[in-house]
Amino acid sequence: MSDLSVNHLLGIKYLNKKDIGLIFETADHFKEVINRSIKKVPTLRDITIANIFFENSTRTRLSFELAEKRLSADVINFSSSQSSVKKGETLIDTVNNILSMKVDMVVMRHPNPGAGIFLAKHVKAAIINAGDGAHEHPTQALLDSYSIRERLGDVAGKNVVIVGDILHSRVALSNIFALKLQGAQVKVCGPKTLIPKHIESLGVTVETNLKKALEWCDVANMLRVQNERMEVSYFPTAREYTQQFGVNREILDGLNKEIVIMHPGPINRGVEITSDVADSSQSIILNQVENGVAIRMAVIYLLASKIK
Ligand code: CP
Repeated sequence: MSDLSVNHLLGIKYLNKKDIGLIFETADHFKEVINRSIKKVPTLRDITIANIFFENSTRTRLSFELAEKRLSADVINFSSSQSSVKKGETLIDTVNNILSMKVDMVVMRHPNPGAGIFLAKHVKAAIINAGDGAHEHPTQALLDSYSIRERLGDVAGKNVVIVGDILHSRVALSNIFALKLQGAQVKVCGPKTLIPKHIESLGVTVETNLKKALEWCDVANMLRVQNERMEVSYFPTAREYTQQFGVNREILDGLNKEIVIMHPGPINRGVEITSDVADSSQSIILNQVENGVAIRMAVIYLLASKIK
């Protein structure tokens, strides 16, 4: 079996197409495992993993923990709100203290872009970036592409539009890298104020009219407006944002085809997506969450096999 080209998963930017293919093949195997009556394999009995989260998370944190437990790894969890970080301890000191307890791998979510890259340079453990500020969220992009592949058969050749707050979104950047690497066409759509200048240099096109973007696409990935990362207003009101960039049943029924609807969560129902759309058969939102466990098992397994 071939190896990943990297020793850490810091961003999709550092992966190649072969890496993504290998992660998907491995995830296919683990997806079959987690659908058995006994959902666990003894593969990583000798590995200890620390999940360290400096930012809130529901899906990513639970999904990583479940993936680790399904592989029989020993797991410790750290949350900054209940830790000595509150007493002024630095990131490197915190992680080195955790590693001195013989930890092999660290899964980290952090509000600062590049925190995982910094950590990988300074500590002896495999690092997985579980989201670093507005930079990257690589396992989210992998599970998103994997879910498109599952629903549509392939990612190559598909038209994917990412809608919403592109400026503050690590999900958008990681998805752009992952989709382009696999041969999809990517468009971003949102208010001009929430689209980074020069984003076309990443090989994507920009559309500010949601209806036109939806008419073009096979898949729409709806993003949440990240109010927590905004220091100023980027659009007049939430109501106006919803009128221009929210997806609802009426818009979808006006298209002459059925598109796939995705969302990384957490959803703001009634803002970027209405409940009837989120819960419809066009939506693969819960498939994304389910696939997250298999994808994270694959990433952990492949990185662990490099440190054994
Ligand atoms: N999609 C995602 O990263 O969700 P959480 O913030 O709940 O982990």
